[in-house]
Amino acid sequence: MKSRIAVYPGSFDPIHDGHLDIIQRCVPMFDEVVVAVLQNEGKSPLFSVGERLEMIRAVLAEFPSCRVESFSGLLVDFMDRVGARVVVRGLRAVSDFETEFQMALMNRRLNPRVETVFMVPREDLAYLSSRLLKEVGSLGGDIRGLVPETVFVRLRERLVKRER
Ligand code: PNS
Repeated sequence: MKSRIAVYPGSFDPIHDGHLDIIQRCVPMFDEVVVAVLQNEGKSPLFSVGERLEMIRAVLAEFPSCRVESFSGLLVDFMDRVGARVVVRGLRAVSDFETEFQMALMNRRLNPRVETVFMVPREDLAYLSSRLLKEVGSLGGDIRGLVPETVFVRLRERLVKRER
């Protein structure tokens, strides 16, 4: 039987508990879950791709069916390279829907074998985004418990350094 491989793509700058919740929900549904980190250094991310890969790998170490890789170029081309046909995206609110709908249809047009599966995060995590966490963290707000502890420590260090 062919293995069912899902790709969960994103910027993950940094990974937070909402992402983790989606990944954990994917684990029993697929033989392998490839977390695909977009190489978007041009957008001045807070963490380099290498740092993001390292943090995600550490957090997912307990899930042997999860693999973490970076990619550049089209997502559908990356999917072909890893032999995956399913893209997983989290849908937090109606506001996510329009962009996600457009991306799903464009990806399908680019590669008709690719299907997008939308997953809904735990309700108490549904408001999280990496952008909001960075903003609140940089203004001194408490974001502990919304990101894995290792990420919290790295995030605090990085935000303090950026302030200097
Ligand atoms: O975490 P994000 O920023 O919402 O993730 C967006 C991502 C990485 C899924 C999207 O930007 C993407 O797939 N980029 C790769 C380039 C690509 O394939 N673009 C066309 C998408 S229809």
